[in-house]
Amino acid sequence: MITLYEGAFAKINLTLDVLGKRADGYHDIKSVMQTISLRDDIEIDLGTGKAWSLLCDKEGIPTDSTNLAWKAAEVFFGATGKDPDGLQIRITKRIPVEAGLGGGSADAAAVLRALNRHYEMPLSLPALAELGARVGSDVPFCVLCGTATVEGRGDRIRRMPDMPDCIFVVCKPDFSVSTPELYRELDEKVIGKRPDHQAMERAFLSGDLEQIVTNVYNVFDPIVTEAHLELNYIKSIMNSYGAVGMQMTGSGSAVFGICSNFENAAVICNMLRGNYPLVYIAKPV
Ligand code: C5P
Repeated sequence: MITLYEGAFAKINLTLDVLGKRADGYHDIKSVMQTISLRDDIEIDLGTGKAWSLLCDKEGIPTDSTNLAWKAAEVFFGATGKDPDGLQIRITKRIPVEAGLGGGSADAAAVLRALNRHYEMPLSLPALAELGARVGSDVPFCVLCGTATVEGRGDRIRRMPDMPDCIFVVCKPDFSVSTPELYRELDEKVIGKRPDHQAMERAFLSGDLEQIVTNVYNVFDPIVTEAHLELNYIKSIMNSYGAVGMQMTGSGSAVFGICSNFENAAVICNMLRGNYPLVYIAKPV
């Protein structure tokens, strides 16, 4: 038996625009995604000689073939024709679930990367990302990591220059949002404001944190904020204690604040922690 280890890193959406509904029921999006250092840990035992199994240290996470990490292993072995002769996946969960942080996708992507490395790269990184699209819309980006503009269903990925030095504070409130319902709600609305991706691209090319922060915008943010004014409370605390920008990530409900130094991030973290146990400090990866 052999054990593989891999980090599964969360993502945030610095921008998120929804461009329209596709024939397959999904939506075309455009998003600048950023990998952050908040992470789950994945261990994979190969050659157990037993039926496949999955363990997670956190309750409420599916431990069967509906878990995206399990699905990722299935598509990898399906595509490569390799045989693990029994497999167990163990997940140490730190990324909050139903947060818009891509936790399940990160786990799936980590499984794909670990397996591909173990079998000496039968798939190129772009092919591995393409395989990830079968598991979930955010998986291709999570396979590649870093900073990128993501388009289509999440499957067209263009690398961007690295995020300039900064610190994120991530806060997951108690409520959760259903992603499919949020997309349905958006279908019935006229989107008033959208992110300016040209301006965001220029900001990244010049490495200007202030300009990047100015262009952070998520079309889902006002919809979720309207139903949960608490998001404004979290943002106001972030703003009062020195964050230069704040926004909801993905379909929520986590909010991130961008700070230019660690001291501000630590103070924000302390100010939020009383009301919000799920608050984290993270760096861009
Ligand atoms: O692919 P994933 O399982 O992450 O998507 C969850 C749900 O979010 C989909 O079933 C779909 O309703 C919605 N979605 C979408 N368009 C996308 C991504 C997700 O409509 N690009």
